[in-house]
Amino acid sequence: RMIKRQMQCRSDLGRLNAPFLAIYESLIPAEEEKAKQKQLLTLLERLVCTEWPKARLYLYGSCANSFGVSKSDIDVCLAIEDMDVNKSEILLRLADIFQSDNLQNVQALTRARVPIVKLMDPVTGLSCDICINNVLAVVNTKLLRDYAHIDARLRQLAFIVKHWAKSRGVNETYQGTLSSYAYVIMCIHFLQQRRPAILPCLQEMETTFSVTVEGVECAFFDQIEKLRDFGSCNNETISQLVWAFFNYWAYRHDYANSVISIRTGNVISKQGKDWTRRVGNDRHLICIEDPFQVSHDLGRVVDKYSIKVLREEFERAADIMQYDPNPCGKLFEPY
Ligand code: CTP
Ligand code: MG
Repeated sequence: RMIKRQMQCRSDLGRLNAPFLAIYESLIPAEEEKAKQKQLLTLLERLVCTEWPKARLYLYGSCANSFGVSKSDIDVCLAIEDMDVNKSEILLRLADIFQSDNLQNVQALTRARVPIVKLMDPVTGLSCDICINNVLAVVNTKLLRDYAHIDARLRQLAFIVKHWAKSRGVNETYQGTLSSYAYVIMCIHFLQQRRPAILPCLQEMETTFSVTVEGVECAFFDQIEKLRDFGSCNNETISQLVWAFFNYWAYRHDYANSVISIRTGNVISKQGKDWTRRVGNDRHLICIEDPFQVSHDLGRVVDKYSIKVLREEFERAADIMQYDPNPCGKLFEPY
């Protein structure tokens, strides 16, 4: 398989830039969606502050990391110091408050891995998940957003990869495939590895931003305006990058030995992390290191069945990018 795939990319990739960019543009949320998100956040802040005046709400996830496509749900984190009451009680109390203000489909999921309250706001039509004190998610949201502002090709690639993953049914963590967060990290890693590099490794640079959250030091360079030209020595276009991204995950990544790590800007060894065997439910069949919680493998949800599905999808995408005269149609075909 490796031999068959020492692929040279097709020579007509250039004409595919326009269709990929058109798909990217069609996924960008309209300005009015941003306004609606703000409106809902303001309402929630007002409601929450009646009960906990010192609490603060933060947006995280795709509505704040700049990888959100049109019509995404919004993710909100409630930061609250008063933790004498436990999370479940706070979530149930929140649910009560929201319910009595006519928010719809209010549900407290107190037993989930990340406990949340879900709701739908009939005024803006937006759905929203609220979690408590998940500050690491707020910080990794900033890291992703900072990366997005260094080179426009990251956002283009990530939108296309997320759109592909959703179309092909491989963006379902409860079915053993990968989260959107994991796909964005894969895109960042990939652009750090291009030669010349398209993205730097912010965590290996001088620290200009630093917070310690739950005992984890999160430090990186965040003066992004100084990095505006970082990728300008590399003139690869979106169609070349989409081709190379799928080729990498289909035929070049060493699943048996390698962990991708945007923290180091490199591939590191599974051996070094002791991720070579199954421990509990973590099988480490595709290894994606979380940038801050470095003991977290974002691929831990992948099992022996879903790894097959995932790798077949990468190969399918790589082959379409290599051989299909009109890849945009086939690539995003519903599964
Ligand atoms: N997150 C995390 N660790 C994970 C998964 C998610 O910290 N293993 C946090 C990240 O801050 C991420 C947020 O939860 O940005 C939302 O995750 P996810 O739903 O996967 O990504 P979104 O960017 O919100 O994507 P989508 O548009 O599909 O909702
Ligand atoms: Mg989300």
